[in-house]
Amino acid sequence: MGMMESLALLREEAEASLRNCQSPEELEQQLIDVLGRNGSLTAILRAMGKLESSERASVGAYANKVKSALEAVVAERRAALGEVAKQLRFEKEALDVTAPGQLASPLGRLHPMTQTYRLIRDALVGMGFSMFDGPEIELDDNNFTLLNLPKDHPARDMQDTFYINENVVLRTHTSPCEIRALTTLTPPFRLMMPGRVFRVDEVDASHSPVFHQIEGFVVDKGLTLGDLKGILDSFVHAVFGEDVKTRLRPSYFPFTEPSAELDVSCSICGGKGCRVCKGTGWIEILGCGITNPHEIANCGYDPKVWTGLAFGLGVDRMANLKFGINDIRLEYENDARFLRQF
Ligand code: DAH
Repeated sequence: MGMMESLALLREEAEASLRNCQSPEELEQQLIDVLGRNGSLTAILRAMGKLESSERASVGAYANKVKSALEAVVAERRAALGEVAKQLRFEKEALDVTAPGQLASPLGRLHPMTQTYRLIRDALVGMGFSMFDGPEIELDDNNFTLLNLPKDHPARDMQDTFYINENVVLRTHTSPCEIRALTTLTPPFRLMMPGRVFRVDEVDASHSPVFHQIEGFVVDKGLTLGDLKGILDSFVHAVFGEDVKTRLRPSYFPFTEPSAELDVSCSICGGKGCRVCKGTGWIEILGCGITNPHEIANCGYDPKVWTGLAFGLGVDRMANLKFGINDIRLEYENDARFLRQF
C-alpha cells in the first residue's frame, strides 16, 4: 500500500474513533495515540524521508491536510464533550425553588418550670384569679410582722433571709403580697401572685437560696375551708391529672387559722409508697389555710366581715414532681441536653 493510501486509511479510522470518544480523558489519549511523539500519523510523517523527492511534496501536503483535519475533529469533539459535562453539572446543581425549606434553627421548648407555672396560672385564671405583683426586696413588716410574725416570733427562724438593713429584707415567701393587696386593693378579690423568693439555705438536691412561689389569695365574705379545698383540687388536677388524690393535713402558719398542708397522692408509685414519697404514698406540695383574723385586722379590715383564704406553693418543687426530676439544681443549670427532655 502506498503512502497516500495509508494516510487516507489512517484519517478515516482516526476520525471515526475521535468522534466516538465519550470522555475528555479518552479524547486526549486518542490524540496522543495519533498525533503524539509515537503516534501513528507521526510514524508516517517520519517515514517520508525515505520517499523520492518528487513524491515527497504531494505526500507532505496531504499529510498536513490530514493532520489539520484530525486536529479540527479533536477541537470539535472537545467542545461537544465540554458541553455535555456542563449540562450534567447543571442537572446536578439544579435548585428546586419550590422544595420545602430546611428549618433555619431548631425549635426550642419551654422550661419545665415555665410549663408547670403556666398550667397552674391557667387553672387559676380559669377560676377568676387575676395577677398581682410584689417586690423581691420587701419591708420586714410586710414579709413578717403584718403577717402575724412579730420580731421575736420563733417561726421567723424557719425563714432566715438576707437583710438589706433592719427593716428591709429579700422576701422569704410571696405572702407579703397579701399585705400589699389588702392595703392597696378593695375586697372582694381573687389574686395569684407569682415570683422569686429567697432564704438562707445551703444548696442541695431539694434546697436553693432562690426559688419560686405562687401565692393564692382570696378575700371575700364567708369563705370556708371547703372553698379552699375546691380551688386546690381544681388546679392540682390541672397540673397532675384527674387521677391524683389530695388531702389536707393540719399544720401551722402564723398567717392562717386553721392552717393546713396539701398532700397529693404520689404520682411516681401511685400511692403505694416509694422512695420519693418516703413510703407514705403522699407528697406535700403547699401550705394553706383560712387567713388569720389578725392579718385582716392589721390591714384595716374588720375580720368579722371579711374572710380570706390563702395558699403558697413552690413552683420548682411542683415541676420536679410533675416531671420526675430528682434534683432541684438541674432546673437552674440551663443545660440544653437536660431541658430538651421535657
Ligand atoms: N408562705 C408559706 C411558706 O413560704 C407558705 C404558705 C402557707 C402560704 C400558708 C400561704 C398559706 O398563703 O396560707 O412557707
